[in-house]
Amino acid sequence: MTAAASFDAMFAALAPIGRNPVSGGYRRFAWTAEDAALREWFAGAAGDRGLTVTIDRAGNQWAWWGDPDRDGGPAVAVGSHLDSVPDGGAYDGPLGVVCALAAIDVLRERGFMPGRPLAVVNFTDEEGSRFGVACMGSRVLTGALTADRARSLRDRDGVTLAEAMAHAGRAPDQLGADPEVVRRVGAFVELHVEQGRGLVDLGRPVGIGAAIWPHGRWRFDLPGEANHAGTTGLDDRRDPMSALAVLLTEASAAARARECLATVGRLEVAPNAVNAIAARVSAWLDARGASEASVRLLVDDVATACGIAAAEESFTAATEFDDQLVGRLSTRLDNAPVLTTGAGHDAGILARAGIPAAMLFVRNPTGVSHSPAEFAERDDCVAGVEALVAVLEDLAG
Ligand code: GLV
Ligand code: MN
Ligand code: MN
Repeated sequence: MTAAASFDAMFAALAPIGRNPVSGGYRRFAWTAEDAALREWFAGAAGDRGLTVTIDRAGNQWAWWGDPDRDGGPAVAVGSHLDSVPDGGAYDGPLGVVCALAAIDVLRERGFMPGRPLAVVNFTDEEGSRFGVACMGSRVLTGALTADRARSLRDRDGVTLAEAMAHAGRAPDQLGADPEVVRRVGAFVELHVEQGRGLVDLGRPVGIGAAIWPHGRWRFDLPGEANHAGTTGLDDRRDPMSALAVLLTEASAAARARECLATVGRLEVAPNAVNAIAARVSAWLDARGASEASVRLLVDDVATACGIAAAEESFTAATEFDDQLVGRLSTRLDNAPVLTTGAGHDAGILARAGIPAAMLFVRNPTGVSHSPAEFAERDDCVAGVEALVAVLEDLAG
């Protein structure tokens, strides 16, 4: 099978799973029926290729070519994640998994004999869409998030991660860091759709990710007092929507002033009725920037303006990928351009845990991501497969 045929077959097989027919986007959240279908697809695709699937203590799936504990390790791992943000695109995550498996097909067809074990990984709950903490699978795997904290996180319906895992047939008491699996991985290269227009501007189909901005998520709980919309005078109200207006205005102003990005993309309003003053509003602030100090000052600005402290739900410090690995990829890929991103990735968590890691980005013609409009041309996706083939031949030859 050619790289293109292999890519097409897998991308088409994934297309219906978790697709929302109204928006055309994807709802693929951790430990749901959709997630189970994705995991089953991954296990099947790995089995079809003669790869052996293992699941680590954080729930991540690894498909091995070669025995990870014997065949001249540590291994070279590629892959990404299959979950999505609410109404996300088809490419963020799945592109990295599908291109990795297609690269294995190409290597097999060429008669490549790996000198070290190879793995394709499907990281669990990268987006944190259900339980709030991004890169859950890689954070728990590397010990960056404790199993106790992870187990107690709740989704929007109050279901804990422990309950959701049990419901999906996994033992939550097994959840935890897995240093033996971490030790197996000598290098990790995550291919991902670009979430910006860097490669369009440079006229190149594939680039290399060398760094990730510091970024985090904070929750502001704005208190109010429920009351009647038609009988409560303006001066008698305690309306958390007024504080929300201040929060939104300040987030935008502070982001500009501090040269960062700030987003409030999620709100919870209780009781969320047209004719009742809200009793409470929770607003989630996503803040990112080139320097951790600026990001934290931005969050402080917002907290000061609203007169309320923020609860930090997750934070990832600035991440520099492995210099040597980035240089090697760039040489191997015809001096592919090197980019920095404001998006978080499991590769960043692995890098922060000391695993040499880097990323490959595939051109995105509009730069749009976390949206049903996310897209990459099929030829560029195939160029991504070929880039991974070249990288694996180099790193695992
Ligand atoms: C992950 O996609 C993130 O950067 O939020
Ligand atoms: Mn994403
Ligand atoms: Mn992603």
